[in-house]
Amino acid sequence: MIAPSILSADFARLADEAAAVSGADWLHVDVMDAHFVPNLTIGLPVVKSLRGATDIPLDCHLMIEDPDRWAVGYAEAGAHNVTVHVEAAADPVRLAGNLRAAGAKAGLSLKPGTPLEPYVDVLKHYDTLLVMSVEPGFGGQKFMADVLDKVRTARRLVDTGHLKLVVEIDGGINADTIEQAAEAGVDCFVAGSAIYDASDPGQALERLRGQAAR
Ligand code: DX5
Ligand code: ZN
Repeated sequence: MIAPSILSADFARLADEAAAVSGADWLHVDVMDAHFVPNLTIGLPVVKSLRGATDIPLDCHLMIEDPDRWAVGYAEAGAHNVTVHVEAAADPVRLAGNLRAAGAKAGLSLKPGTPLEPYVDVLKHYDTLLVMSVEPGFGGQKFMADVLDKVRTARRLVDTGHLKLVVEIDGGINADTIEQAAEAGVDCFVAGSAIYDASDPGQALERLRGQAAR
């Protein structure tokens, strides 16, 4: 699966920018609060509007403090998938239950320096694992290949039936990096600058899809 990140899109033309990637599996929406990460983007009102403007399932990635309080609102707004950071969540197991009760898939994200092993039991309650391959906060950063060990561990846990998760990667995915990520066992690839900085975002998306499938 490919999930274009609208962080690199034109925020004044979001409906058009979504239409430009109509073949996408998910549309990745980066919510930042200038506290959990040193950047501020968009929030609930924009997600609500976007939900009415596209049929692509919204994959909301919350880079915010206190997701226990705010995340369910995104599920209620119609997000397909709401991903919170394990470093920010006070009670991630309970939060996953609340997200599912509100009708969304629950996602858990790990920053590059956060190990997977301590959270295996927590991940039993989640539908998606989002492995960050850059420090969260900005698009266009360089891919950190060392996180692929975490992807391989997650892949193994899924393939052996210990976890049931979509393994998603986010940060620095482009034509040069997507193949190694695919080889490590990623199911869903987020790509922002590699898609929206291209002259034809739809074509860039399909090219990445072809590379990931090889
Ligand atoms: C970074 C965001 C990413 C970002 C990826 O904190 O979570 O989703 O949009 O952008 P690229 O693909 O340009 O690294
Ligand atoms: Zn993201």
